[in-house]
Amino acid sequence: MAVAREMRAAVNERYGGPEVLRLADVPMPSAGKGQVLVKIAATSINLSDWEGLTGSPGYARLGGLRRPRRPILGSDIAGWVEAVGEGVTRFRPGDEVYGDNLQLKGGFAEYAVAPESVLALKPHGLTFAEASTLPQAGAISMLGTAKAGPRKRLLINGAGGGSGAFAIQLAKRLGAHVTGVDNGGKLDFMRSLGADEVIDYQRDDFTRGHPPYDLILDLVAHRSVFAYRRALARGGRYRCVGGTVRSMLRVLTIGAIAGKVTGRSIGVLVVKEGPAHFEPLAELCAAGEVDIHIDRTFGLDEVADAMARVGEGRALGKVVVTPG
Ligand SMILES: NC(=O)c1ccc[n+]([C@@H]2O[C@H](COP(=O)([O-])OP(=O)(O)OC[C@H]3O[C@@H](n4cnc5c(N)ncnc54)[C@H](OP(=O)(O)O)[C@@H]3O)[C@@H](O)[C@H]2O)c1
Repeated sequence: MAVAREMRAAVNERYGGPEVLRLADVPMPSAGKGQVLVKIAATSINLSDWEGLTGSPGYARLGGLRRPRRPILGSDIAGWVEAVGEGVTRFRPGDEVYGDNLQLKGGFAEYAVAPESVLALKPHGLTFAEASTLPQAGAISMLGTAKAGPRKRLLINGAGGGSGAFAIQLAKRLGAHVTGVDNGGKLDFMRSLGADEVIDYQRDDFTRGHPPYDLILDLVAHRSVFAYRRALARGGRYRCVGGTVRSMLRVLTIGAIAGKVTGRSIGVLVVKEGPAHFEPLAELCAAGEVDIHIDRTFGLDEVADAMARVGEGRALGKVVVTPG
């Protein structure tokens, strides 16, 4: 009789704080049609993992209202191809890959299964830990700064986090004047990344008393659309990628109208998945033109501590989990 192979994983069977995570032996997944089994070398943590752990904001429960349908988190994975499923043509065992496995997750484990379409070959110039920091934050920062350019005043709300750290550097490369907003402990970090001005969100409100911005990239929306309209110059553009459900719904509805009638554009940035959206940033990083900041690396038995570091806002740069 065939014995199912097991692996170690950090499992969260209910929503809650880091204390709900426990290390367990679970059955090893296998690659289905169009899927790749990846032996994990590194998985970086995104705010979306914290949201998936706590089940908040509400959209984090789309994959299971009462309890997580996928009880192993971790979407930004990097590692070696262990096996490929039927129909996979781009990869073979032994390839070094990385990608954003947002739909299936499972990166806080020794092995994870991902659709072939979300993976790319890892650049030789990057370590697995470095590559794991790029997929989700890379796509958000590339899309979020696409309209930046010389003489544009860009404000990034939540700029000291994983996506923001890349967004500041990308916007500076494009010649924009960048203002970074985050908590007081991240002001020097944002300056070191190139931010021209920094604002501590616990002491100052960027929507009041500051000259208006041409572009606002909001990683953590929680204000009214009227505050965003006030902070925008005429012809300006506001896009949020995350935040409270209430704020995002208001941006989608009232914001779109309020923007239009006042000559501004207010909306939600839907982040597209797939290598095309993060590989350009990986190339810049491998060439040494954009820096990757890894705050700390944790073992698989320390995922709870790693998640707490991100969720409690102590990380300067990306936090990475390595199963080895
Ligand atoms: N639209 C999509 O398709 C899509 C896909 C994936 C992810 N996302 C979203 O993208 C967002 C960015 O994720 P990330 O991984 O870059 O997050 P992150 O690393 O946690 O960074 C967010 C930063 O915002 C700061 N912050 C918290 N509250 C703030 C406030 N009121 N004002 C200003 N800054 C504040 C945090 O600092 P503290 O330390 O003080 O908390 C942190 O430094 C998340 O909201 C995620 O849900 C969207």
